[in-house]
Amino acid sequence: MAVNVAIAGCGGMANGHLRSYIQIKETVPEKIDIVAMCDPVVESAEKFAAQIEEAFGMKPAVYADIDEMLAKEDLDGVDICSPHGYHHVNAIKCMQAGANVIVEKPIGVTVKATHAIMDPSKRTGKIAATAEQIRRMPSRRASKWLMDKGMIGEMRMFFAQHASWTDHAPEDRWHWRLDLALGGGGMVMDSGAHFCDTIRYLYGDPDTVYARVDKLETRMVTKGDEIVQSAHEDMWAATINFRSGVTGLWTCTNAAPGYSFNRAVHYGSEGCLLDDGDIFHGPFDGAKVILKDGTEYPMSEIVADYKASLGRDETERLFPHGFEDGVLLECYDFVDAIENGRDVEIPAELGLRAKSICEAIYESGAIGEAVDFDEVVAGDIEVYQKPINEHWGL
Ligand SMILES: NC(=O)c1ccc[n+]([C@@H]2O[C@H](COP(=O)([O-])OP(=O)(O)OC[C@H]3O[C@@H](n4cnc5c(N)ncnc54)[C@H](O)[C@@H]3O)[C@@H](O)[C@H]2O)c1
Repeated sequence: MAVNVAIAGCGGMANGHLRSYIQIKETVPEKIDIVAMCDPVVESAEKFAAQIEEAFGMKPAVYADIDEMLAKEDLDGVDICSPHGYHHVNAIKCMQAGANVIVEKPIGVTVKATHAIMDPSKRTGKIAATAEQIRRMPSRRASKWLMDKGMIGEMRMFFAQHASWTDHAPEDRWHWRLDLALGGGGMVMDSGAHFCDTIRYLYGDPDTVYARVDKLETRMVTKGDEIVQSAHEDMWAATINFRSGVTGLWTCTNAAPGYSFNRAVHYGSEGCLLDDGDIFHGPFDGAKVILKDGTEYPMSEIVADYKASLGRDETERLFPHGFEDGVLLECYDFVDAIENGRDVEIPAELGLRAKSICEAIYESGAIGEAVDFDEVVAGDIEVYQKPINEHWGL
């Protein structure tokens, strides 16, 4: 029986999910049916439904209201791509209605919101998957492989640092991301959620995090008739201490005039992995290993060796049907897990641990002291998150 899926929140990122489900259905038609689209802006849901109709001749049902969709449809899976504040609200409703969920990162607007997603998942046995694509791509898998096999020795530390200047003007438009209750924070937990999943994937859990987080510029935005202040931080400097002994320095600002730079390097005792992209989404295809003696290995070569090292079953598990796009792989993982009654690669518990690094940075910044990672994961530290939790009654 095909797995019935719906998308809740038909905005920018959901478009990538839609294309992925279309590709899955084109590749394995009997695996999936895309049956409903839901967005409070109903035209957005209509546009998504029209793409499915064009591809397969069958138009999914369109809803402006998730309660109505859940009452009328018998869904196996709902893909939640709404603003962060609604992640837990929508996920809980879906699981209570009997559907499995995949929730875009950062899977919950706060730690407590993520717990609120995990609880019904545990109670009902429904999957709560974290939509996290970065670690699934070949160069990221190959980075873990090269570190695990000691290609650059024992891992010691990483530096991921960015500084630039962004001009701002009051006519910049307000967006839900700029609202603390809806967005939960700025880039630390937006694109930062990807980076924190990747460093957990590479290095395991931290034990402590110390950070300074600041709003150095007063950035105003236009919201309707009002000019309001952006809730985003524009600088953070975080020291992330891993249980493994690895130390990470992750710093970012767009309030640095005059000179911009960007660096991401992972060091082991015998060499380094030098990345060539931003500080959120790597290690990229253009990265390279440089050993102590100066020998260099481009990522393309490392990826080829990594792929050659995989057996047939492992290749099919990690890159089914030859898929290599991260979003396609996360959507496939979700559908396949529902079909085969197995868990996904990144259940909510792991999404929680990744996003807890982001929240640890905010909490440390708010408290002015290093924070214990486990206490953040448990939801026991909530100074920064408190008003957001209060807003949502968490
Ligand atoms: N994985 C990635 O690379 C990546 C990239 C961008 C965004 N995202 C994530 O995707 C999610 C959506 O971000 P976006 O950039 O697509 O935002 P967006 O603003 O483009 O889309 C959000 C959509 O949700 C709809 N919506 C609003 N309230 C809703 C509700 N209560 N229920 C359902 N839908 C609702 C909006 O009308 C809009 O169509 C976020 O979690 C974001 O962090 C992930």
